[in-house]
Formats: sequence, structure tokens, C-alpha cells
Amino acid sequence: MTWTKVCEKSEIPEGSIKKVWARVGSGIPIAVAHHRSGFVAIPPVCPHLEEPLDESGLLLGCKLTCTKHLWSWDLETFELQDEAELPLKTYDLKIDGNDIMVYVAEQLEYTFDEDDDIDENTFFDEDEDDDVW
Ligand code: FES
Repeated sequence: MTWTKVCEKSEIPEGSIKKVWARVGSGIPIAVAHHRSGFVAIPPVCPHLEEPLDESGLLLGCKLTCTKHLWSWDLETFELQDEAELPLKTYDLKIDGNDIMVYVAEQLEYTFDEDDDIDENTFFDEDEDDDVW
């Protein structure tokens, strides 16, 4: 494998996340995020429950938050923040002129436990028993 161009810098304004494809094999999906200090390349889904981060991800400064259940990561240090329980995997990334290049040796994926589901009705109302009079 080698470095491959996935997009141009101008396609991803600061504060945004874009799903791109590395032209490796039949294509590998990657999310490129443009945070305050630069770009990162990560698998395109949240490691919690596989939400597409280009849709559920909110990027403020260097903090990426999956708005589905509020797992967050610092994209500069890759420290877990808030509710996050698993780290992000990352691809090596470099800038060549206006091109964003990613080194893809293999597709990075997370393992999802099908039993690790969450009740959407209770997630935002943990005190629901308090509401019963
Ligand atoms: S799916 Fe992203 S935090 Fe739950």
C-alpha cells in the first residue's frame, strides 16, 4: 500500500467532516476532519454504535462529538472526553500542496457488540422514574 490522495484541502472547511474514499482495492471509506490545528483521517463511523460521523459528528475547535450519545474525542491528543469509552482509530495523513494524502495499509474498523444497544427513549431521560407521580 502507499499514500493515496483522498481529496483536496479546499473541499473540507475548518470545523467540518467529510466522508471520502481511498482508491485502494474496491475502495475504503474514510472520514477526514478539519479541526482547529489541522486534518485527521479516521474510520467514517462512530466506535460506539456505528453512526456515520460525517452526519452525527460535531466538530468545535479540536473536539469531535458524536451527537448520537455524546461520545467525544480531542482530535489533537486523541484523548477520550465526556461519555467516550473507546478511542478513535486513525490513518496517517499528510498534506501535499492542496492534496490530502492518506496512508492506507488496511481498512480500519471497529468491533461492534450487537448486545451493546441503547434504549433511545431513556438515554436523554435517565430520571424517567422521577416523572411518575
Ligand atoms: S453512536 Fe456515536 S456516541 Fe453513540
